[in-house]
Amino acid sequence: MIGEIFEKNTIYEGILSYYYPANKPTAAPMGFKLVDDDEIEIKVYRESYRTYHSLISGNTDYVINLTLNLKLFLKSAFKYEFGELEHSIFTKSPYINAPRITNCYGYIDVRLRSIEKYDNYLIANFKIINIEVKKIYFIPTRAFTQLLEAIIYMTKVKTLKNHKDIVEKVLHSLNIVKKVSNSNYYNNLVETIYELLRMWRLI
Ligand SMILES: Cc1cc2nc3c(=O)[nH]c(=O)nc-3n(C[C@H](O)[C@H](O)[C@H](O)COP(=O)(O)O)c2cc1C
Repeated sequence: MIGEIFEKNTIYEGILSYYYPANKPTAAPMGFKLVDDDEIEIKVYRESYRTYHSLISGNTDYVINLTLNLKLFLKSAFKYEFGELEHSIFTKSPYINAPRITNCYGYIDVRLRSIEKYDNYLIANFKIINIEVKKIYFIPTRAFTQLLEAIIYMTKVKTLKNHKDIVEKVLHSLNIVKKVSNSNYYNNLVETIYELLRMWRLI
């Protein structure tokens, strides 16, 4: 069944939510990969500070929230800049001791099985406890895919020393978004990213 939803060994983007420290719900975007029918892997860099520390501290329960809400990707990636996520967006999973983000189209409840530690990152292996995915329509628009790309690169801009090439990639993606869309929704997201770049004095 899960194989009908996800291709194995392919990275999908979701938002990982968990309690850390105890009872405090938090979330961050993470790429995840189905490696077996009941098994998911996530590569977590040290720079993803809270998630990395939650995992090495032995916190076991996590939810992968499936959403197309780009604002949520942006807000959960930049909690330091935009403020912590409001507790009211979370509800406890009925299956594990982890919070879910309301209004997502899918939830994968997972439990940590093992961690492999490397110099700058770790690979966390999770057992799938429960999966719920609603059918949705996704009609591709480059406004969406390029914005997702821009948000991912923005998290790299924040952590890497050599910004120049990555900022160029972000600006390239934003130009494509502007070319294919003039909606308020996408314009506001583009503007928010420009604001971050201005704040960091990169443009
Ligand atoms: C779509 C998307 C996917 C991401 N995937 C990963 C990932 O797989 N591993 C990782 O370490 N960081 C990833 N990041 C970056 C983290 O979300 C970012 O560093 C975040 O600020 C970490 O928050 P935390 O300190 O609360 O863990 C991703 C960011 C985005 C926008």
